[in-house]
Amino acid sequence: MKRVAVLISGGGSNMVALAESMKGDHPARPVLVLANSADAGGLDKARGLGIEADHVDHRPFKGDRAAFEDVLHDRLMQARPDILCLAGFMRVLTEGFVSRWQGRMLNIHPSLLPKYRGLHTHARAIEAGDREHGCTVHEVTPALDDGPILGQARVPIQPGDTAETLAAKVLEQEHRLYPACLRRFAAGDRSRVDL
Ligand code: GAR
Repeated sequence: MKRVAVLISGGGSNMVALAESMKGDHPARPVLVLANSADAGGLDKARGLGIEADHVDHRPFKGDRAAFEDVLHDRLMQARPDILCLAGFMRVLTEGFVSRWQGRMLNIHPSLLPKYRGLHTHARAIEAGDREHGCTVHEVTPALDDGPILGQARVPIQPGDTAETLAAKVLEQEHRLYPACLRRFAAGDRSRVDL
């Protein structure tokens, strides 16, 4: 059984989707949810699901990313995870941290990568006049929102969609895609999921 830790910054709806999927014959179990702020709404959701939850506040480190990540890494190691899932974790990670978890760390990003790395992906897709948008699960490598793609889910952009309506539709697909990709990944299967 693989042990999974999930890093969050906000409401943690993807974390909940992942946690709820890791049951029965699933090859993994959630062992820790860790946030970079005590205010992350997902922490209480994790506790409600019976998962250990904690935070390492990035603010006292005042931009010293490596020092923050050393503490984050130590806290993670207490839970001995095999796989690390970034689920709305909004801190950019250094190459040093990523290399410690390379091949064992996944991320979900709200665009059809390689399009729209970074922020404001929904507004950028609408502004570009795209007909479809979506989300991507990928292995994390040092370059931002890069790394081997494990799966994508597509969402048509309808006339009248706003960044908010599109974000809600994409988030619904994120909740299907991430669990599907994690299940395969935890079983050692890196074939791509397309939804
Ligand atoms: C999700 O849409 C996720 O794809 C996005 O943040 C949201 C978190 O929602 N992640 C990124 O933008 C990472 N660059 P959640 O906290 O409800 O899972």
